[in-house]
Amino acid sequence: MKRGLFITVEGTDGCGKSTQIRKISDHLASLGCKVVVTREPGGTRISESIRSIILDPAYTEMHSKTELLLYSAARAQLVEQVIKPAIANCETVICDRYVDSFYAYQGYGRGLDMDMLKRITSIAIDNMMPDITFFFDLDPETGLRRRMDSANGDRIENEQLDFHRRVYYGYKQLAKENPDRIKTIDASRSVEEVWKDVRRQLDSVLGFVREI
Ligand code: TYD
Repeated sequence: MKRGLFITVEGTDGCGKSTQIRKISDHLASLGCKVVVTREPGGTRISESIRSIILDPAYTEMHSKTELLLYSAARAQLVEQVIKPAIANCETVICDRYVDSFYAYQGYGRGLDMDMLKRITSIAIDNMMPDITFFFDLDPETGLRRRMDSANGDRIENEQLDFHRRVYYGYKQLAKENPDRIKTIDASRSVEEVWKDVRRQLDSVLGFVREI
């Protein structure tokens, strides 16, 4: 393989991504892959600083245009500083959220123009699209209930349920439009059942990649 695999992980808040990311990472490492785990927004010094502005619950006045530019700026830095070099170096990158979050949250959630989001994304990512995306499918009611135990929510989590429902609908649409890339995983099941499904999908992609 001449370059590394790029995996992204998506879903509404509280869908259990983090546990599965750890499992994917451990599994790939056990197969001898060099794995880089990163997240959005964040993953670099600059992007993490932008993250703290974006998610600060105090900034209730943030305009949706400001929000979309901040997410894009954080993404551009992550792509250039971490993702591109790692992929070129044959490392596997697992990114917790990426462009599908942008389309689901800013596009479907905020109702921003999808063509504008795509134009900005093409500047930010420069064709760096994931090879495979896991969408952890969990309805927002269950996801938010799962998160109730944790401390106060960030600026996005604090959005109304209607917003989270639109995001969820958005993810479903994106999965329908990109069936080859986006693998939908029923995240309402136990951690082990979810992992069995993820692992099956992952192994089939790895098998395919080894053949090319
Ligand atoms: P985070 O705490 O990382 O969420 P989670 O633990 O659920 O992954 O916060 C990131 C938040 O930012 C999350 O609510 C989704 C949102 N988001 C966007 O609205 N647009 C984006 O482009 C990205 C990457 C994230």
